[in-house]
Amino acid sequence: MDSSQFKADDPILEIKQERERARDARDPLTDVCYLVTVASADRAEARALTLRDITDRGVGVLINRTSPKWQQLSQSGTATVLIHWPSVRRQYRIWGGIAPIEPERVDAYWRRKSHGSKLLEHYYTEFSSQSARIASRQEFLSGIESLRRRYPERDAVPPPQSMAGIYVVPREIETWHGSEERLHDRRLFQKTGNGWTSLTLVP
Ligand SMILES: Cc1cc2nc3c(=O)[nH]c(=O)nc-3n(C[C@H](O)[C@H](O)[C@H](O)COP(=O)(O)O)c2cc1C
Repeated sequence: MDSSQFKADDPILEIKQERERARDARDPLTDVCYLVTVASADRAEARALTLRDITDRGVGVLINRTSPKWQQLSQSGTATVLIHWPSVRRQYRIWGGIAPIEPERVDAYWRRKSHGSKLLEHYYTEFSSQSARIASRQEFLSGIESLRRRYPERDAVPPPQSMAGIYVVPREIETWHGSEERLHDRRLFQKTGNGWTSLTLVP
């Protein structure tokens, strides 16, 4: 599909359609995004996250409330998400506020998680918060093993309260369409009441 076929005034629709193209091209980054948060005046922090959904509400990710990123999101109320799909030469920079994902969607994400990933979510509240410093990997693995004894079946692990689904709700979306000649096409979309305005940017 040629990019000119996309509805130019809806960047969310474009991102959803390009994600399908990236998936078809088996792009290993189809389900990856990078979340950037403000830790302090002289420090931004970035990390890769699994990209769950892109909906008209925003870009959905799952994070744990014990983590530094949760603290940073709670304090600033804003975040930037970067998405890059090399297979289709697309980059999206999305800046906006934060809103909770509907509980039924979070439940569906939980059901798809691997056994280890579910145990890890419990580790954060039962042993040490995410990104805490611990004495050794052995200490971590023995905590996981005790959780595995308590929850031997993947499907029977209950979702912990500390798991949060959040949308980054776009106020601005910058689109980048890569061109072979390096004369890329960049646009800035800004949210209005119920639509978008767009401007062209120097690549
Ligand atoms: C491809 C990939 C996907 C990841 N997905 C998640 C995720 O969905 N949620 C999460 O909390 N951490 C995820 N991580 C780990 C984070 O990058 C990060 O190490 C962790 O969340 C700690 O972040 P913080 O200390 O900044 O809060 C992922 C890492 C990679 C490389």
